[in-house]
Amino acid sequence: MKHFLTLADWATSELWHMIQLAVHLKLEWQSGGNRPVLKDKILAMIFQKPSLRTRVSFEVAMKHLGGDAIMLGPDEIGLGRRESIPDVARVISGYAQGIMARVFDHEHVEQLAAYAGVPVINGLSDAYHPCQALADMLTIYEHFGRLQGLRLAYIGDGNNVAASLVQAAAHFGMHFTIATPQQYQLPKPVLASASALAQQTGASVTVYHDPAEAVKHADVIYTDTWVSMGQEAEAEARMAAMQPYQVNEQLVQRASKDVIVMHCLPAHRGQEITDEVADGPHSMIFPQAENRLHAQKAILVRLMAG
Ligand code: CP
Ligand code: NVA
Repeated sequence: MKHFLTLADWATSELWHMIQLAVHLKLEWQSGGNRPVLKDKILAMIFQKPSLRTRVSFEVAMKHLGGDAIMLGPDEIGLGRRESIPDVARVISGYAQGIMARVFDHEHVEQLAAYAGVPVINGLSDAYHPCQALADMLTIYEHFGRLQGLRLAYIGDGNNVAASLVQAAAHFGMHFTIATPQQYQLPKPVLASASALAQQTGASVTVYHDPAEAVKHADVIYTDTWVSMGQEAEAEARMAAMQPYQVNEQLVQRASKDVIVMHCLPAHRGQEITDEVADGPHSMIFPQAENRLHAQKAILVRLMAG
């Protein structure tokens, strides 16, 4: 049984297969509907943080594939408070055929996976957001017709989304550049393992502090919030440090002329991205959000079908 906790746990060929499967399932859906390959299967969705895209797209994906999903919000099961995580994992495994969990501490999804008798999907932890990065690879692949050799520049906070993106880029042979303030860099072990993988795939990982340097020749500019869920107490310091990292028209002008701009959303318009860019001709943010549905169908089918 396989879990989907980080992209580092998967072989490049398996992830590539999931992207192909997502393309297929998207076309199948658009041509009249998906086959009910998850008929009678239930996904339990544990959310310790808010969500729009992840929550709705997983539930819709399960329904399109003939199954269903159950939402368990932060006040419902008291994960690790009312009941221990190992006990929650074993109880849910008796009712549902898969678990999707959005947590603070990444160890909590690892613990769920260690004790569950069914596949566990990380729907975002403080450390990683693998479902987002897989969907983003689908979006980039659909737009450019390839991933290998493309240049992806990530600007802003070295957070969970950036960590999964650098892993994805390393798998698929992309040149990943990142510009963050010194104190908000990606964790060193994440950079080191992605760099090691990059050497095998023709990819590269380069760290900058100047956003203008990082976006030079970029095919994709990517940003995310400066204050992730759970970091609200640090908001003031983070906002101050990240002001020079705004993705605005001036920065976009420095990239390739056909650059696409991505953001996992929710966006804080006027902070990490301007309205002009988010709603401008380079923006891919809404097709990107839609692709969460199609990419996650591939994850669900790979983990829960047959
Ligand atoms: N991008 C993303 O995961 O959005 P939600 O937090 O709304 O699920
Ligand atoms: N980095 C953001 C992503 C939200 C989808 C957060 O963790 O809040």
